[in-house]
Amino acid sequence: MAYQVILPAAGLGKRMRAGKNKLLLELNGMPVLVHTLRVFEEDEACTGIILATHPQDDREITGLLKKYRILKVLNLVPGGDERQHSIYNALRTVKTDGIILVHDAARPFIRKGHIHRLAQKADETGAAIIGVPAKDTMKKVKDGVVVETVERASLWAVQTPQAFRISILKKAYERADQEHFLGTDDASLVERLGYPVSIVEGDYDNIKLTTPEDLYFAEAILEKRKRLEQGRQA
Ligand code: CTP
Ligand code: MG
Repeated sequence: MAYQVILPAAGLGKRMRAGKNKLLLELNGMPVLVHTLRVFEEDEACTGIILATHPQDDREITGLLKKYRILKVLNLVPGGDERQHSIYNALRTVKTDGIILVHDAARPFIRKGHIHRLAQKADETGAAIIGVPAKDTMKKVKDGVVVETVERASLWAVQTPQAFRISILKKAYERADQEHFLGTDDASLVERLGYPVSIVEGDYDNIKLTTPEDLYFAEAILEKRKRLEQGRQA
């Protein structure tokens, strides 16, 4: 299933406390952003990458695109103050219909197989998101006191990518903009219009690099993948 992807990369990475955009930190000698870009650059089903960036990072990112030969990024779109605004700026540059994915540039461990299953599902249903069943017991808390233990079987931790028919996502973003609605993910904008959103089971490795300790998890995931790769070649 052919698709385009929007990669929001215009954040400041404040919680990472690195003094610069966390996407420019290196993992295994290569910036996080490049790890993510490569997944899509190397996926033949991906027809284009729309990258939303903060102007202060543009020079460095342009250099990286050249250095690592990322050819599917045609241009950089200026990000906004919120993730949702960055994505809306990117979405407005899309003139075709078809399937679009939105994927946090801060999740470098997404796998091609999951991307394909997600794009396929969105083509069938209009909207699909990736997630994993919740592992922890979840409780609703108010003013420091437990209100309720939520039944875990029905709870999923949702990640990106999230995939949509372009016409549906545009309508959802336009409506959110008109109504000043700020959602915590892309699907929530689509849900409030009453469209069903399907879920595709992904894996727990697809973490978002958010705080400094996530870098240790990232090293461990890379190490695991390297061992698996060596095992396959042996
Ligand atoms: N993002 C964006 N535009 C913004 C804010 C975030 O494009 N105005 C992007 C980030 O670059 C990241 C993704 O959205 O790839 C998820 O956001 P998050 O993990 O919160 O990253 P940051 O906003 O950079 O980090 P923080 O919230 O800690 O400052
Ligand atoms: Mg943020």
